[in-house]
Amino acid sequence: MIYMNLAHLSGREKDFINEAFDTNWVVPLGPNVNGFEADLEAYMNETNANVTESQNLNKKRVVALSSGTAAVHLGLLDIGVQAGDEVLCQSLTFCASVNPAIYLGAKPILIDSEPDTYNMNPALLEKAILDRIRITGRKPKAIVLVHLYGMPAKVDEIMVIAARHKIPVMEDAAEALGSTFDGQLCGTFGQYGVWSFNGNKMITTSGGGALICPNIESKKNAIFYATQAKEPIPYYQNKNIGFNYRLSNICAGIGRGQMTVLKEHIAHHRMLHDIYTHLFEGVEGITVHSAHNKRFNPNYWLTTILIDPSVKIFINGKESLVRSIKSEGGQPNDNVEQLRIYLEQNGIESRALWKPLHCMPAYSKYPAYIDGVSESLFKRGLCLPSGPHVSIDDAKTIVRLIKEVLR
Ligand SMILES: Cc1ncc(COP(=O)(O)O)c(C=O)c1O
Repeated sequence: MIYMNLAHLSGREKDFINEAFDTNWVVPLGPNVNGFEADLEAYMNETNANVTESQNLNKKRVVALSSGTAAVHLGLLDIGVQAGDEVLCQSLTFCASVNPAIYLGAKPILIDSEPDTYNMNPALLEKAILDRIRITGRKPKAIVLVHLYGMPAKVDEIMVIAARHKIPVMEDAAEALGSTFDGQLCGTFGQYGVWSFNGNKMITTSGGGALICPNIESKKNAIFYATQAKEPIPYYQNKNIGFNYRLSNICAGIGRGQMTVLKEHIAHHRMLHDIYTHLFEGVEGITVHSAHNKRFNPNYWLTTILIDPSVKIFINGKESLVRSIKSEGGQPNDNVEQLRIYLEQNGIESRALWKPLHCMPAYSKYPAYIDGVSESLFKRGLCLPSGPHVSIDDAKTIVRLIKEVLR
């Protein structure tokens, strides 16, 4: 089976893990946690080295946490999101971008995507802000901006709108470790940023995440809340409610090993995207999603394609009769599901794009500012194998198989 994005180990992970066992650091703190944070901060500073100092990027700090979801939660908590607040979120995303706002008792306001990046549509964002102020008399408390599939959102436009209305931005760069916009690392534009190290991400700690904080004080505050908000006195005393969100020293050991291959992983994902783009050139009905201009430098976590609804799938000369499983709020087009199943039968994993949250029963009750783009992307989109285990020959096989059945 050729999988979408399997964990790929450097070999160094075990050294860091063994060291943790040998020194009995088998707890959610320790040298690997500090070392992993230092590695991530060094990578962040190196990548942002040529970005203007006026943005205080050199003050940013990283906190290692048990998941990307925990990082979104702590970031929103520190921004001050509370019960009754409204939080502006992207509808086309994984539910973990939005759930933490709901955990805090806030109401997500779902915003549609624009077709260049598949991320938050700046015009709809501005419309939503003005509309929410008019309806509720209050400004939304935060914007959760996602860089889906590693494609940077239109950060320049979004940050201008956020600044105009003085609304803090929480960047969900869970899928975008290594992606840059104008040379600046995604996750470092907003007040807070998030990376995920889940098993299918650019690097993994088996499960884990990181919160990028604006400075050392907010890092200390995030660690305080990630470790049950215990007061710093010799017995147990709480003035605040915290969480058990710190990354374990064992998982952080995996992370330290993974940092030695991060750049290789990014280069591999980008190379595969180039190969797919090249091989699909001139194939009618298939569009590979690519950066629409050079300011956007995605990590291409997953290469995604759009399949025109007019395309028919013929297998062994016969039109496929597979129908997409119907669900409330809609499903991918039949030709997308036909291609997915055909690839699966040939040992290749692929998957539909994220389903827009406003189309799902759990989220359809929330206000949404929608113009049809995310629904159309969901219906037509397919994610292709894109990780370090996918070889050039694998990509050639995948494209050949797809071309063979398209009519
Ligand atoms: C866009 C997005 N946000 C948040 C998350 C949550 O990260 P985690 O799985 O580490 O909690 C993920 C991935 O899982 C994601 O893809």
